[in-house]
Amino acid sequence: MTADRYAVAGNPVEHSRSPLIHSLFAQATGQSVDYGRLLCPLDAFKPTLLAFAAGGAKGCNVTVPFKFEAFEMAARRSPRAELAQAANTLRFDAQNGADGGWLADNTDGVGLVRDITVHAGVPLEGQRVLLLGAGGASAGVLGPLIEARPAEIVMANRTIEKAQAIVDRHAAWAAQHGVKLSARSLAEPGEAFDVFINGTAASLSGSGIPVGPQVLRPGTLALDMMYGPAAQTFLQWARDHGAIARDGLGMLVEQAAEAFYIWRGVRPDTKPVLAHMRQLVDQPKTDGAH
Ligand code: ATR
Repeated sequence: MTADRYAVAGNPVEHSRSPLIHSLFAQATGQSVDYGRLLCPLDAFKPTLLAFAAGGAKGCNVTVPFKFEAFEMAARRSPRAELAQAANTLRFDAQNGADGGWLADNTDGVGLVRDITVHAGVPLEGQRVLLLGAGGASAGVLGPLIEARPAEIVMANRTIEKAQAIVDRHAAWAAQHGVKLSARSLAEPGEAFDVFINGTAASLSGSGIPVGPQVLRPGTLALDMMYGPAAQTFLQWARDHGAIARDGLGMLVEQAAEAFYIWRGVRPDTKPVLAHMRQLVDQPKTDGAH
């Protein structure tokens, strides 16, 4: 029997850790999966994907900068992909060469929530959460964060209008879950949050962390969605101010596990895979952001 084919589709994709993570999942669960990399030209995402599916592939993960296009392409979308307006997981349910029947989902948010609550062991229910940024990364996780029922979520962004638009889109979902949700500027994000999530690439640009340390209290969980060298400035800043620093590696593994479940109907054990990835990433000369 030949293995079912999947890939991570993006540009660039050569540094993606997803093929290794999915091969570890496949090994551990006994699933016959062949997961590769699909480099898509910036102006040819759709034809590249259609050819991949026509060749018999079963699905793909989607990364920068195609998560919005992937969402647009699919015939069916999960509620969490609808909230995010972006997809990181496609399942090719129709194999007729057309895009009809494809399912789009977004597993980033549930991956983040599981990393926080399971691996970091920090409950979200009833907590105050600061989510920094209003780009694809932050918009992609807000729905599942709300579902975890914190008392409050503040979305703070340099361009407040962008945060406000995302908050408005999630207002009904927040009300339904009893979560106080607001958009704020970087100048006045609020203070002493229980959980602080960085969904911006600001620390990469050399401009430092774009909010002051008053957003932290001793013991705040401060999580950057990046990992490897890209996350180090943030992690050091968080530790320097008494927070518990965490990178995005656990989120990466958990979002992959959820995609694996969507495709295969089997939920892999993430703990040993995260431990394996941690060893690799904590060695020098690695880099990455998902
Ligand atoms: P992604 O899809 O990875 O989230 P993006 O859509 O380009 O990338 O969003 C990047 C986020 O980082 C945005 O929230 C951006 O703020 P703006 O919406 O105001 O552009 C934020 N960001 C990037 N560089 C920043 C900086 N130097 N200071 C503050 N915020 C920054």
